[in-house]
Amino acid sequence: MLIKALTLVEAFFIPFVHCRTMQKHQITIAIDGYSSSGKSTLAKDLAKALDYSYLDSGAMYRAVTLYFQQHSVDITNPHAVSEALENIEIIIPPARESFEIFLNGMDVSELIRSLEVSQLVSEVAAISPVRRYLVYQQQQAGKDGGIVMDGRDIGTVVFPNAELKIFVDSDIETRVLRRFQEIQLKSSAVTKDEVRANLKHRDHIDSTREDSPLQIADGARILNNTSMSRQEQLEEVLLWVKALIEEQ
Ligand code: DC
Repeated sequence: MLIKALTLVEAFFIPFVHCRTMQKHQITIAIDGYSSSGKSTLAKDLAKALDYSYLDSGAMYRAVTLYFQQHSVDITNPHAVSEALENIEIIIPPARESFEIFLNGMDVSELIRSLEVSQLVSEVAAISPVRRYLVYQQQQAGKDGGIVMDGRDIGTVVFPNAELKIFVDSDIETRVLRRFQEIQLKSSAVTKDEVRANLKHRDHIDSTREDSPLQIADGARILNNTSMSRQEQLEEVLLWVKALIEEQ
């Protein structure tokens, strides 16, 4: 007889996923946090466990940045920025696990992760018309609930009424190492010092910009995952979700 041991996640959530259609309302989960804090990993794992959609809002800011770079758009010129936004179509096919993003019909899922894009994206994300353009699309994507979205302003601006808001944090060296290892899988041309400088630069701009700075949203729960494994952070948050769903 083959007995399959269920992980804690399966034991808790298989019943929830199976009675998903019986839930009165699928909740919205808003996840914010610093660069490379592990929020996208958590968001993807949660979406998979709950059978919800997942949207990486940072990828949208990256796609706009890539377009601006490819078309040499002067980001200090509001007219050029508005005109460029009119020519941008971002499509993110619904997915639970893998994540793809198309910019004007081209798959840019890999290109948007380059260091060149990372070096400019925070400046682009500080431009108010860019934020208005993307926040509207994010709100449309999540209007029916059943979504996990991660970014910097999801709990404060995009979904201030989300049932569950999470602020993910972890110490800077842990974040540098995670990001460095991720980049090394694709290219070894980047040093840890460059990664650290880029993370600090982005954290600074993201949390001090005038429009929608990164802040802990009202009512957000803080998850410091410095010494947690991927599985442990998922299990912790699933307990919060379980409690919320039971309250409904
Ligand atoms: O999550 P990420 O590192 O891929 O995000 C890229 C940049 O986009 C980040 O520096 C801040 C910005 N961003 C934002 O301002 N608001 C969001 N909701 C998501 C990302």
